[in-house]
Amino acid sequence: MNVLKREVFRLVIISLTFFMVQCKSRQAINKDILKQHLSTEVTIEKVPYGMTPNGDKINSYKLKNKNGMEVGIITLGGIITDLIVPNKEGISENVVIGFNSLEEYLKPNPYVGAIIGRYGNRIANGKFSIDGNEYQLTLNRPPHSLHGGEYGFNRVVWKENEVKSGAVASLKLSYLSKDMEEGYPGNLQVFVTYTLTQENQLEVFYEATTDKKTVVNLTQHSYFNLSGDFSKTILDHEITLNSDKIVAINDNGIPTGKLEDLTHTPFDFRTPKTLGKDIEVKNEQLKRGNGYDHCWVLNNAEKGKTVTATAYDKTSGRLMEITTYEPGIQLYTGNFLKGNLPMREEGFYEHRTGFCFETQHYPDSPNQKDFPTTVLRPGENYKTKTTFKFSIK
Ligand code: GLA
Repeated sequence: MNVLKREVFRLVIISLTFFMVQCKSRQAINKDILKQHLSTEVTIEKVPYGMTPNGDKINSYKLKNKNGMEVGIITLGGIITDLIVPNKEGISENVVIGFNSLEEYLKPNPYVGAIIGRYGNRIANGKFSIDGNEYQLTLNRPPHSLHGGEYGFNRVVWKENEVKSGAVASLKLSYLSKDMEEGYPGNLQVFVTYTLTQENQLEVFYEATTDKKTVVNLTQHSYFNLSGDFSKTILDHEITLNSDKIVAINDNGIPTGKLEDLTHTPFDFRTPKTLGKDIEVKNEQLKRGNGYDHCWVLNNAEKGKTVTATAYDKTSGRLMEITTYEPGIQLYTGNFLKGNLPMREEGFYEHRTGFCFETQHYPDSPNQKDFPTTVLRPGENYKTKTTFKFSIK
């Protein structure tokens, strides 16, 4: 009997110990999951950035993921001030041109990092008609209008509409562009949402509605240098562009109306080629753009899914892949950078130390019947998205 009791007692003790060990390891697993969960969060942090001469407070938002990627955005112009991406050694560096103070961003500059609107790119003579009504825009690049006019969306103060963090972090900015601002008809309510994912993707989602027929063509004007070293030009970046044609331009950067086949021209990036390889070749279109400053017609079979453009910097190993819902992309090789914009620490951004990939509708579409339309009507929702994905190759 005693033996039986002892045996039962022994079994109870064994089961209890087993149960306790189980509980402990479950707790440990739960703790691990929690830790993992915290580190998979993409965070967002708000910091005051300064004040404009009109007394508008400007904030800076920092979106950060667990891979060492970080995006800094300010509410002035929705400007991307920082885009910090790891290289092949895991060292995170800034890959966009930026300044170190609000004062610099307030000075006239070539759209550094900003949201461009109401119309990205040029409108010939700053004129267009809708339903027989002619509109005259501000001629900020006389005799034409560029990037929305004198006070385009790059110079206005955006409101913080929504801030989210978790599996992804996002900042939704809003701006109400009043009827006839810079000459454009209709009150245009615009939203731009920047999202950083854990997969090192930066998504830019644009939305707009209007109360009068108008034209809209929004884009982003960050200058990339994937080497992270802005003392170097971008000429050894290897580029691909999934495109067979460019929008040919005249001496003023205005489309001639022709979409030119790029076979056997310096514009062919269907197989990887460095920006520098053909940039000095004798070619009429290159001369007109002072280098590459053209809109490529994208073979965008599956909009938003097909990678339409890539840029690769061998030394750092950084690869940037672009997907977009837009029919075109303006590749601009920083031809007008001329050493007068100060770098973050010391020195100046020299000629061709940054390039832009501006996803967009074609330039001057409001005056070109054969180009995809940029007209937005009341009741319609303008929605378009471009994703910049970073990885190591
Ligand atoms: C765009 C234009 C260029 C130039 C830059 C900014 O890319 O196409 O001509 O204006 O913006 O300087």
